Amino acid sequence: MTLLRIEDLHVHFPVRTGRFGGTPALVRAVDGVSLSVAENETLAVVGESGCGKSTTGNAVLGLAPVTAGRILFEGQDLAGLDARARQKAWREMQVVFQDPVSALNPRRTIAQSIAEPMIIHKWAAAKITARVNELMSLVGLNPDQRDRRPGALSGGQRQRVVIARALALNPKLVICDEPVSALDVSIQSQILNLLMRLQRELGLSYLFIAHDLSVVRHIADRVAVMYLGVVVEEGPALELFATPIHPYTEALLSAIPLPDPHMRDRRDRIVLEGDLPSPLEPPAGCPFVTRCPLAEDRCSQERPKLLAVNPSHKARCHVRVTNSN
Ligand SMILES: Nc1ncnc2c1ncn2[C@@H]1O[C@H](COP(=O)(O)OP(=O)(O)O)[C@@H](O)[C@H]1O
Ligand SMILES: [Mg+2]
Repeated sequence: MTLLRIEDLHVHFPVRTGRFGGTPALVRAVDGVSLSVAENETLAVVGESGCGKSTTGNAVLGLAPVTAGRILFEGQDLAGLDARARQKAWREMQVVFQDPVSALNPRRTIAQSIAEPMIIHKWAAAKITARVNELMSLVGLNPDQRDRRPGALSGGQRQRVVIARALALNPKLVICDEPVSALDVSIQSQILNLLMRLQRELGLSYLFIAHDLSVVRHIADRVAVMYLGVVVEEGPALELFATPIHPYTEALLSAIPLPDPHMRDRRDRIVLEGDLPSPLEPPAGCPFVTRCPLAEDRCSQERPKLLAVNPSHKARCHVRVTNSN
């Protein structure tokens, strides 16, 4: 069953550019994104910094304004719910951000940090103590460490504390916004393995945000690749890694280091030149046109639609996907 459905989401931020009070302008951070996450599924959202991944997650959590479009949780449009029902839906969605240092109050003990959501929901003290111990064991922390402060922990242990707190109220969906990007590479796979085990044991769904594809290779069931506020390709993870369609997905894939030197030599490396264009002035046609090695005339004139290449795999590219598919 579909747990979360995002329909044609737009998030535009009014800003002022230039000097002397500036000229009003609009940042099109998210510009028509549709995604869904099924129960017990991991959807990875991948793309360069600034492409709108966090804003998409934040809109789901009520932390960014929805300019247009709908967000449905368990089939219900969040905008149509009364305040109480919306709070209940948000309790079923939790978030793990990139930086466990800023997510944890340095003066609080681990137990106090994990207990925060239960205190807000006025649980009895004895029940909180028991649940904190249970959560610490669940995420691989020794309950003996409950009185330590974040400063005494490693980065990986701090992220385990953040994950324990996110799970305190038994959410159904966890939005993981680059949860391993701030960690040492050697620790990243431990946290990814933990998230995968928790998903199996608790039946969780993840909206898993990352800026490179290598991080999501093992954890993702499906992958959506974002570029400049839109999804340019979406499909089952295995298929997208094996047969990418969009040239941007190819470029992201070619940036992943390969362990086998033969494979490395055989593969053409696609190097992306320049930066992501400004979401204040996105290109008129295909958003990727300014950096695309395949760009043709119509790519700078007409915006390609996200079209299906098979029932589960879609891409937005004039050159690679045509209407006849
Ligand atoms: N509150 C805001 N006001 C203005 N612009 C914003 C705001 N939040 C994000 N943006 C802009 O929206 C774009 C997408 O940002 P974000 O969703 O954080 O990207 P990502 O998470 O993919 O790195 C960026 O250009 C960013 O500068
Ligand atoms: Mg982000």
